[in-house]
Amino acid sequence: MTDLAIAANGLRKSYGDKTVLDGVDLTVPEGTIFSLLGPNGAGKTTAVKILSTLISADPGTGDIHIGGHNLAADPQAVRATIGVTGQFSAVDGLITGEENMLLMADLHHLSKSEGRQVTAELLERFDLVEAAKKPASTYSGGMKRRLDIAMTLVGNPRIIFLDEPTTGLDPRSRHNMWQIIRELVSDGVTVFLTTQYLEEADELADRIAVLNDGRIAAEGTAEELKRIVPGGHVRLRFTDPAAYQSAASALREVTRDDESLTLQLPSGGSQRELRSLLDRLDSAGIEADELTVHTPDLDDVFFALTGGGADIPNQPKESAR
Ligand SMILES: Nc1ncnc2c1ncn2[C@@H]1O[C@H](COP(=O)(O)OP(=O)(O)OP(=O)(O)O)[C@@H](O)[C@H]1O
Ligand SMILES: [Mg+2]
Repeated sequence: MTDLAIAANGLRKSYGDKTVLDGVDLTVPEGTIFSLLGPNGAGKTTAVKILSTLISADPGTGDIHIGGHNLAADPQAVRATIGVTGQFSAVDGLITGEENMLLMADLHHLSKSEGRQVTAELLERFDLVEAAKKPASTYSGGMKRRLDIAMTLVGNPRIIFLDEPTTGLDPRSRHNMWQIIRELVSDGVTVFLTTQYLEEADELADRIAVLNDGRIAAEGTAEELKRIVPGGHVRLRFTDPAAYQSAASALREVTRDDESLTLQLPSGGSQRELRSLLDRLDSAGIEADELTVHTPDLDDVFFALTGGGADIPNQPKESAR
């Protein structure tokens, strides 16, 4: 238990007769990035709010431990351990960026001098020094988002919840934010991140869970998730037409592209499958000039699991098995 930053069992939450979370298990090891994915309304923000003590889970929910503290028994200890950057900005536009930071420092009961020091450090780190004395309402979306995260870090939290931290940011700002998140984790911080950007989960997360219909539809590393949807294949490229021909006849189930001398065959990309393919080529004395493994991307996984893909027939969940 001690090396888990977040451990929740059977998380439940309903609003009226609408079940939002229907028994969700979440475990996040310390110092890792966990990403919760799911379509709009799946319950990501609800999960973040419960885990960060902002709302309570329904009866029937199992124990929740955050940073080793029991959330129901000791919410204060949990609050002292975590930082939360909500989906919607906590920045007060009427005061300056610096004043927003100092306000947070007050909330965390830092002394005046500590508060000033931490504020100065974070404004520097988040490239907000120049804007610090201007009202936050004049900030761009990216600046506001950076200020939001800087405010979250004032209390030096060991566990951070980031609810869609890069929504609305341009690609450069998004990459900057990714860099900031990576730095946090290299300092040992645990990050619980929700996102609509599958590329972001793919980039950052050690583990990813896809929330759908109130349950975790699949969980694993990006690579593991990509393997559960069909569409993976191996491509073999040849420069020698004779080698291409013999490969085409030696391998079953190939799709040929005679023009580019390329063969494609379905494969999940596992070591076992690749070895067997290489063995077959070896024993036929064939050498490809290039072998590439293509796995489906997280978009494919997302559509397959969340029923968002019009072109995926059958019960979406069946494809997860
Ligand atoms: N206070 C509330 N009262 C009633 N229903 C609510 C409340 N908060 C959330 N919901 C409902 O719970 C469901 C999950 O909402 P939630 O905000 O957790 O989704 P989300 O996954 O964060 O979505 P998004 O990607 O749009 O941010 C939605 O159907 C929402 O309408
Ligand atoms: Mg949300």
